[in-house]
Amino acid sequence: MIPVVDVNIREKEVEAVIEVVKSRYLAEGKFARAFEGKFSEFTGAKHVVTAVNGTCSLHMAITALDIGPKDEVITTPFTFIASSNVIFFNGAIPIFADIDPETYNIDPEKLEEKITNKTKAIMPVHIFGNPCDMKAIQDIAEDYDLKIIEDCAQAHDATIDGKHMGNFGDLGCFSFYGTKNLVSGEGGAVICNDETIYEKLKSIKNHGRNPAGGYSHYRIGYNYRITDMAAAILCVQMDRANEIMSRRHRNGKLYRNLLGEIEDLRIQKILPGHQHSDYIMAPVLLNEKKKPKEVIEYLKSKGVSSRTTYEYLSYEQESYKDLSTWHMSRVINYPDYSKVSCPNSEYTARNHFEIPMVSTLTDENIQYITQTLKEFLK
Ligand SMILES: Cc1ncc(COP(=O)(O)O)c(C=O)c1O
Repeated sequence: MIPVVDVNIREKEVEAVIEVVKSRYLAEGKFARAFEGKFSEFTGAKHVVTAVNGTCSLHMAITALDIGPKDEVITTPFTFIASSNVIFFNGAIPIFADIDPETYNIDPEKLEEKITNKTKAIMPVHIFGNPCDMKAIQDIAEDYDLKIIEDCAQAHDATIDGKHMGNFGDLGCFSFYGTKNLVSGEGGAVICNDETIYEKLKSIKNHGRNPAGGYSHYRIGYNYRITDMAAAILCVQMDRANEIMSRRHRNGKLYRNLLGEIEDLRIQKILPGHQHSDYIMAPVLLNEKKKPKEVIEYLKSKGVSSRTTYEYLSYEQESYKDLSTWHMSRVINYPDYSKVSCPNSEYTARNHFEIPMVSTLTDENIQYITQTLKEFLK
């Protein structure tokens, strides 16, 4: 069976972890600092602050931008739930704007329609690794004086005109969760180019400690420190990033060439000058007579594993439709999420399916997978 996801880990990563454990310094330390340097070089961002995972990196970003109770943050509903959950963390209110059905990313026009006098920020998510239309989003942010937090959890090595994602907003947040392009099991980082935000981020992740360290704290903060075991894995992943990513980009290109020929199938449109991270390949069925469940079953019978990624949109989750278990609902009036409607997101959620994008994928595998799909759809 060709797996749908895998982890690109070699002996070098194993050795790096052993080195850390043997050193007896397991908490965040020199490997975290080394990784920050490498990731700064990789992304071209001036500053990098590591975090325990992508969710914490998003929460650090929201906190550093002073987003708080009753502020509205506009984002997409077609994403992993973490994107909007972190907006709740600070008492802010997630507002959902529909996606462009071609790119699967937030539609700038729909986004603009959702702006109110309570809107404080925009959170574009580069879904599956496809860069959002950042030019349009930056223009809107400038017109309405809004902050931009880029959710780059899936966007390692995704760029626009050679500039790495995360550098278009005030901050960019990354995840190194076990299935991402670059991994450490759990891991995260925020990138930014502003000195003040950088200093805030470092303190927020470390209980609001004073920069000099010790036990003096100047603001309320969290413990979002990464371990040096995770950071050591990330250092090796950085050294191997070219090898890992060039393989993914090659596979993505071949997939796009072959899938593009299949009628009744949509693949993510990549805007001019944009480079996809080739994290997830998820076509959408345009012939409503065929359902993702049937494609997934058929592919499985032919030795290819496949799955639906986000069958339910964020506002469709039980946790959003009934907010009674969320303590902040005692003091904040949230929208009735059961009444939200984003038709393009709903269509994409119900009709997409994810096919293998693993590091061991060969050209023959991709040809076989696309041929199998063609047979099913004919
Ligand atoms: C789009 C998106 N945002 C946020 C996250 C959260 O990252 P993590 O799982 O590392 O907390 C993920 C990852 O899983 C994600 O895919």
